[in-house]
Amino acid sequence: MSNPANRSSEPKVLISAEKLDERIAEIASEIQNDYQGREIVAICVLKGSFIFFSDVLRKLDLPIHCEFLGVSSYGDKKVSSGEVKVTLDINEPLENKHVILFEDIVDSGLTLSYILANLRARRPASLKTCALLMKPESMRVEVPVEYVGFKIGPEFVIGYGMDYAGKYRGLPYIGYLEPEH
Ligand code: IMP
Repeated sequence: MSNPANRSSEPKVLISAEKLDERIAEIASEIQNDYQGREIVAICVLKGSFIFFSDVLRKLDLPIHCEFLGVSSYGDKKVSSGEVKVTLDINEPLENKHVILFEDIVDSGLTLSYILANLRARRPASLKTCALLMKPESMRVEVPVEYVGFKIGPEFVIGYGMDYAGKYRGLPYIGYLEPEH
């Protein structure tokens, strides 16, 4: 991923709020069809996924248990080290449950790969991943992602839950910061 340091602070729009709305409705309808008649455990990976998670969930008409998983993967770095620390674990046992994991963005894939291994060890009946964004050019490990919102380039993005240095999470669109000249 490119380094967002030395960027101007006015974000440019990459994916508008309207496009997000449309795509989220499509994803929710796919999930609704796939899980008809089943109870699911929906896990939100904190913090960046919280808006995506709540927008998809509000469009689902299924019995859902919401869980929140806190992970920290980068520390102070801009690039994933692959060392993932669980900062908040879920409360619900997953054995024999149908689990959907919600991620904001899959970059190198290292964070997701770690989380999936951790959750698989808890023996769910099924485990799928729903990621709002994927950066295929940045992937370093193969990870299954069953529901993908948008594939994007390696640019560092912000907004709609995602931050840079703790800022921009409340933007209603997905944006990026242009280099300062
Ligand atoms: P990965 O382990 O490299 O796949 O990184 C995944 C995590 O890094 C995501 O869940 C995000 O928290 C963070 N991340 C990766 N790329 C971006 C980005 O462009 N903007 C904001 N956060 C990002």
